[in-house]
Amino acid sequence: MNEDQVYPPAPDFVHRAHVSGMDAYKALYEHARTQPEDFWRSLAEKELFWFEKWDHVFEWDPPRVKWFAGGKTNVCYNCVDRHAEGAREAKVAIQWIGEPGDERAITYRELLRMVSRFANVLKACGLAAGDRAVIYMPMVPEAAVAMLACARLGIVHSVVFGGFSSEALKARIQDLGAAVVLTADGGWRRGKEVRLKDAVDQALEDCPTVRDVIVLRRTESQVKMRDGRDHWWHELEAAASDDCPAEPLDAEHPLYVLYTSGTTGKPKGILHTTGGYLLQTTMSMKWVFDIRDEDVYWCTADIGWVTGHSYVVYGPLSAGATTVMYEGAPDYPAFDRWWRIVEKHRVSIFYSSPTAIRALIRQGDQWPNACDLSSLRLLGSVGEPINPAAWEWYYRVIGKGCCPIVDTWWQTETGSILIAAMPGAVPLKPGSATLPMPGILPEVIDFSGNPVPDGQEGFLIIDRPWPSMARTLWGDPQRYEDQYWRRVRGKYFTGDAARRDADGYYWILGRVDDVMNVSGHRLSTMEVESALVRHRAVAEAAVVGKPHEITGQAVCAFVTLKEGNWDHHRLGGELRQWVAKEIGAFARPEEIRFTEALPKTRSGKIMRRLLREIVTSHTVSGDVTTLEDLSVVTRLSSQPSDED
Ligand code: WTA
Repeated sequence: MNEDQVYPPAPDFVHRAHVSGMDAYKALYEHARTQPEDFWRSLAEKELFWFEKWDHVFEWDPPRVKWFAGGKTNVCYNCVDRHAEGAREAKVAIQWIGEPGDERAITYRELLRMVSRFANVLKACGLAAGDRAVIYMPMVPEAAVAMLACARLGIVHSVVFGGFSSEALKARIQDLGAAVVLTADGGWRRGKEVRLKDAVDQALEDCPTVRDVIVLRRTESQVKMRDGRDHWWHELEAAASDDCPAEPLDAEHPLYVLYTSGTTGKPKGILHTTGGYLLQTTMSMKWVFDIRDEDVYWCTADIGWVTGHSYVVYGPLSAGATTVMYEGAPDYPAFDRWWRIVEKHRVSIFYSSPTAIRALIRQGDQWPNACDLSSLRLLGSVGEPINPAAWEWYYRVIGKGCCPIVDTWWQTETGSILIAAMPGAVPLKPGSATLPMPGILPEVIDFSGNPVPDGQEGFLIIDRPWPSMARTLWGDPQRYEDQYWRRVRGKYFTGDAARRDADGYYWILGRVDDVMNVSGHRLSTMEVESALVRHRAVAEAAVVGKPHEITGQAVCAFVTLKEGNWDHHRLGGELRQWVAKEIGAFARPEEIRFTEALPKTRSGKIMRRLLREIVTSHTVSGDVTTLEDLSVVTRLSSQPSDED
């Protein structure tokens, strides 16, 4: 597909959109650029409820920023209470679909009752503002209730994706010093039970800070309950009152910590706070998803990832929308599962990932074609660059040529969408995330920090702070500063490469650090390497992302072994399992290559660049599937390199 191909918004979409036409976008953008205080102040006043007004809109002392400091608000109040009376009280807040086919439609009024009761349960456990709760749950409404109940009281939550192993869970609980774990017996995935409580039990063998575990009954399978520590959710809830006022919290009160992969083996606990985060996630519901009261909005992300935080729970509920939650896999029991849900619930806005789209393309058009998708009016994409072929299929086969596709670029650290089209204003170019949101000033720079001319590739950085940006890394402010704010002083280093074209459109090219993107999930090469070297047979390991047709990248591990007589075939399988146990199944290497040595610089650093070249272009040594070829690479590595 031609990169210059442009899809202008359809006139009727423009006509009805929140931001209507390019001039409206430009006016917003200019207002935010030239008068940021005035811009964000007026939105905060208009869009959110505050118990008390702030002293300053923002205070910027790089890399420290405060938004609306002194102001008092509550994320849960904004997401639930303010919609639970009046016009939206009987509106469905959460439309939930379980994998086995059970369904629940929870109204805003009902959601307020559920959240208040559960907040009282947390209070009764002795939890208060500032304490930490780990949430390790399936995609059920109670997972959102748990998050909101924490937010109601100022308890800092950290959701751990249910696909993470007990080892990964343990590391996060320990890092946070969590007092409580909220979990379930299990959840359903492809017809099988994911046994969450068992994993919690294993993790807790080594987590002295955890006093209580609250267990939701979902699959009704047998679980062990430890006296004094473990409690059934429904039993505690039955005894709790419906009345629990939302705490007025400072705008900078921590809302949640979400762990994501960085460039070392240790995951980073990204910290988001209250007022600014909520304001920008709320605004992007209007700007990017053009949300209206009659919409049925579905973001397919799991609540274990940032997309599930900002665009399944907080953004849509703050905007008073109906948000769809689906528990299971897109291909269960068949490849039309998602499209059946769209048809039945008349979904109008659908937000998903390129990986999922590519996997569904492979199954053929007959699945979506057999469903009535006429309720759709807007499509979204996130997590990785969407290749033009997938874009085209999404546009034609799912959107029937009449739904704009918003390709949204952002990160766990950015909290909300920073680059994406406003669909009633910005003409689309397949493969480009298009233009920045108001208040966002991206730049593309070279190694020395100078801007590169349009059309050239460089590092993507963001000038100026924005309301929903991460405030720090939990327990490690120095790493936060070093990682994001040192390359160019006072500007945020994204870790992505990008190019801006002559129209000012941004084309995101992928990570420039040792972070892989597998199925839109961030995974650090070092994290997988540390897991591998913990195995008794492994001497050294180097991991790189290898291009993959469906998942974008796949994990490829180069491994040297300790002395011994190893059966490579068996060991390969064992190591893959080992990584699944240490991190989670999604981190399992697709390929393990045993080698005599790894290419290193003279200072002893593994030259992943060479390995990446081998798995990407096969140019370093032609056929590289055998051990011998790597000795070629080892020889190559004695030449000077920029990684030395
Ligand atoms: C990548 C997910 C291209 C990027 C919200 C970023 C994208 C990383 C896009 C963040 C997009 C996300 N086009 N690349 N539309 N969206 N990325 O923290 O490399 O899980 O740095 O946040 O995903 O991943 P994270």
